[in-house]
Amino acid sequence: MTSGYEFELAIAARKLIEDILHVNKGDEVLITADSGSDYRAIVATAQAAKLIGAKPLVLWYNMTSGVGMEAEKDLPVRSLRAALKNADVWLEFNKTWLLYSSIYEEVILNNKTKYLILVGMDADMMVRMIGRVDLKLLFEFQKKLANIVSRSKRFELFSSEGTNMTFENDSSRPILIEGEIFGPGDYALVGQVDWAPLEESINGIFVADVSAYPPFELGLLRKPIEIRIENGKIVSIRGGREAMVFKRWLEDLNDPNMYNVAHIAIGCNPNARPSGNILEDERIWGALDWGFGSQAPTFKGKFGLAKSHTDCVMLNTTLRADGATIIENGDFVHEDLKDLAKRIKGTLA
Ligand SMILES: [Fe+2]
Repeated sequence: MTSGYEFELAIAARKLIEDILHVNKGDEVLITADSGSDYRAIVATAQAAKLIGAKPLVLWYNMTSGVGMEAEKDLPVRSLRAALKNADVWLEFNKTWLLYSSIYEEVILNNKTKYLILVGMDADMMVRMIGRVDLKLLFEFQKKLANIVSRSKRFELFSSEGTNMTFENDSSRPILIEGEIFGPGDYALVGQVDWAPLEESINGIFVADVSAYPPFELGLLRKPIEIRIENGKIVSIRGGREAMVFKRWLEDLNDPNMYNVAHIAIGCNPNARPSGNILEDERIWGALDWGFGSQAPTFKGKFGLAKSHTDCVMLNTTLRADGATIIENGDFVHEDLKDLAKRIKGTLA
């Protein structure tokens, strides 16, 4: 990285602290990081918090062998719990995440902390996915997209690799506009709209062709993983070597809830590209992600927590809702979105 790039990192960190998290002077800002985190991203973020008069604290530990509940056996759980549930802001930069752990659950139930998951975020991604994006336009786009989704009932999903699925929405459940942070709660990085469709209505074949993560051995896929879903549960996994790694990882967790569909997510960050880093891959413009395993309470779905959680992403999405096309071959073509989509792409640095 050149030193010029680091100027941009400072801008990205400032946007993260001020424009996304709305951190206030005096806020206690806790950053968790592990041996998989990018030092530059952590320091820039802590500096940005310091500059506005907040009180940053970095909690650093070694990567764990599992994630979520599985991570806790390797960690100083009592200390982390005590610190995090008292934070005003918690930024999770650690690569082996605490999301869906009992620590996370307690922090969310305590309803005092703005929690933002940034697992795998590095300096390069911060510059591209936050620093160089017009956040105002992107939020506007996400709101319009969420609006289309929330007024739709029946969905059809296809891809060039063979995805062919149907599902329905429960209109009482929230459609999450990621990145919009107001008050305590559980938040994800801007560039995604996600929700939990009606579990028993989710049926068909989903072909993940970009990435699947975890298991840690995966990331960018060489060959697609074909996942058959019936009534919101995985019933079979087919494909090459990577599909077998994925299948075995699920089996080894020995938890039937790992086969549950937890959520769907539509990616819409114009600067995200296939990287093998799930934080980025699931935000690729027009990409579609299904999450399996633990279902965050925020989704207000029927499935609860599981031992872990995994996300699988596909490109070249075609998504229709009640007969109207939202995404066609990875591009947003819906009448309410297409002009804004052009403007967002036009503002990229
Ligand atoms: Fe997920």
